[in-house]
Amino acid sequence: MCGIVGYAGNRDALAIIIGGLESLEYRGYDSAGVSVYEGGKVDTTRATGKLIELKKALEGRKRSGIASLGIGHTRWATHGRPTETNAHPHTAGRVSLIHNGIIENYLPLRAMLEAKGCTFLSETDTEVAAHLLNTLLAEGFEPLEAMRKMCAQVKGSYAFLAIDSKHPDRVLVAKNSTPIIIGKGDGENLIASDIPAVLQHTRRVIVLEDGDLAQVTADAVYIENQGKEVRRKEETIAWDPITAQKGGFKHFMLKEIYDQSRVIGDTLRGRISEHDASVKLPELETLRDKASSIKRIVMVACGTAWHACLEGKFFLEEFAGIPCEVDYASEFRYRSGLIDKDTLVIAVSQSGETLDTLGALEAASGKGMTLAICNVVGASICRKAEMVVYTHAGPEISVASTKAFTTQLVALQLLALFLAEARGTMSVAARRHVLHAMVELPAALSQTLKVDGEVSSVAKRFFQARDFLFLGRGRCYPIALEGALKLKEISYIHAEGYPAGEMKHGPIALIDESMPVVMVLQREKPLFEKTLSNLKEVEARGARVLVVTDATEEDLRGVHAEGLIRVPFVAHELSPILLNVPLQMLAYHVAVLNGTDVDLPRNLAKSVTVE
Ligand code: M6R
Repeated sequence: MCGIVGYAGNRDALAIIIGGLESLEYRGYDSAGVSVYEGGKVDTTRATGKLIELKKALEGRKRSGIASLGIGHTRWATHGRPTETNAHPHTAGRVSLIHNGIIENYLPLRAMLEAKGCTFLSETDTEVAAHLLNTLLAEGFEPLEAMRKMCAQVKGSYAFLAIDSKHPDRVLVAKNSTPIIIGKGDGENLIASDIPAVLQHTRRVIVLEDGDLAQVTADAVYIENQGKEVRRKEETIAWDPITAQKGGFKHFMLKEIYDQSRVIGDTLRGRISEHDASVKLPELETLRDKASSIKRIVMVACGTAWHACLEGKFFLEEFAGIPCEVDYASEFRYRSGLIDKDTLVIAVSQSGETLDTLGALEAASGKGMTLAICNVVGASICRKAEMVVYTHAGPEISVASTKAFTTQLVALQLLALFLAEARGTMSVAARRHVLHAMVELPAALSQTLKVDGEVSSVAKRFFQARDFLFLGRGRCYPIALEGALKLKEISYIHAEGYPAGEMKHGPIALIDESMPVVMVLQREKPLFEKTLSNLKEVEARGARVLVVTDATEEDLRGVHAEGLIRVPFVAHELSPILLNVPLQMLAYHVAVLNGTDVDLPRNLAKSVTVE
């Protein structure tokens, strides 16, 4: 996600902030900006694109001495396009402010502030925080008190950094559900979203906790929580800069697997209300009116996103009662597809730049309704589609897609529930049941991550195999396909995903003692028993079996497998999300044991912009 750097001290804040932002470039961003206190006033400069564009914009600016205080930001667009006006810092009167996170109640806050006479210049949620803080300062509150009052009115996730031009000795900081750290120096202090941004200057770091407010000057760091001063432990960071970028993990892929609990929360935030069992997707209001006229859905995508579509088909058919087809974008784009005005075409893409998916969307444009599910605001696919639902996975750096897939499944569930509500195909109680399970999903995923040690031991037994078969039925079939794709793309081991019931029509001929079979087994009846029968067929032919399941120990009595990985159970509809995690880990550990380049596997690119 976005990067944040702040500075208070006696060295040049501008150079330190730009250097810090450069060390966060790996996170991905689409615009950048800084506010610095220099020559008796606060100056703000912003630019779209990479930091080089911001540097060019700064070159044209006359400097008046050395800046002693400042804040800087690299923005990964969430609310509003990646334009200069939407870039941070946002200014309002005395205030310059930057933000990571999502303000859920920004629309009512904006209306309230507009009624008080505030003029908004951007499309962002963040600008409300700048106006709110400025209004409170103008009412006479001291800076920290004003920050406290501002945070009390904001709902959502945030890491805020703000400067008040009347108190240019301090940076004000607030944190809730979005990481922020303070780097302690001698006669200077830094604030950042991530550790790499401060490592060039200090290794002494304080990690703020949810609800913390801080006031950082050159010589002091004051932290409070719920109005009372608190002391947070200072840690000494031993990581080298590259390890720090990976959050201490050996590879980006592993970090991104571990990010999944948080990004599910980010994708759900502000979008569900358990109270009235509804899904809030204001970006789809025009679709609500047309929902009952949708006769058919066609989903197009490539690779992992195509697997997300196969899983999404279950939600859309089951919840919204709409027949749904899934096509490879590269196939769909060159045939008519019989799209008419009652067909909803959904393109799913992490990057939003995959050429085949864009081509498929172009082929459907003007014929049916078009909707994109995408992770990158303003990407080509989003510009082409009539409607967009964004996943909030944050930048995915490893070529192997993990957290983006998980958030695509979450977004497709939200879409299916939204359509079910609009079409009246699901009772309030049934919707509430699924929504309640979705609320529990981030915690269940955190719990699932604990199987990593077991998966790593299993990987040691299987990593030398030359072929793998992944089997699953129903909702577990797309997960079997995704498990096989992940393994082959990063470990270069041949792997096939198959519907378990189809195995006896061909692939069973491959099975012998050298073939590991990964069975994805959901406890839902009747497919549980059916898959167990397939497991017996595999066992009878001497295969080495690894079972990944959400079933109970009792359910599994009589199952003899070389490896057995159990994940928590939340709801049948959500199990695939959790069952996929051990498969991501298996691919990762097998690749590490085989010594491949996990984050940059051979012959692959993160964004495939060629046919
Ligand atoms: O950016 P997209 O989601 O459109 O990318 C589609 C595929 O290229 C992508 O999912 C690819 O299969 C991944 N490397 C899989 O891990």
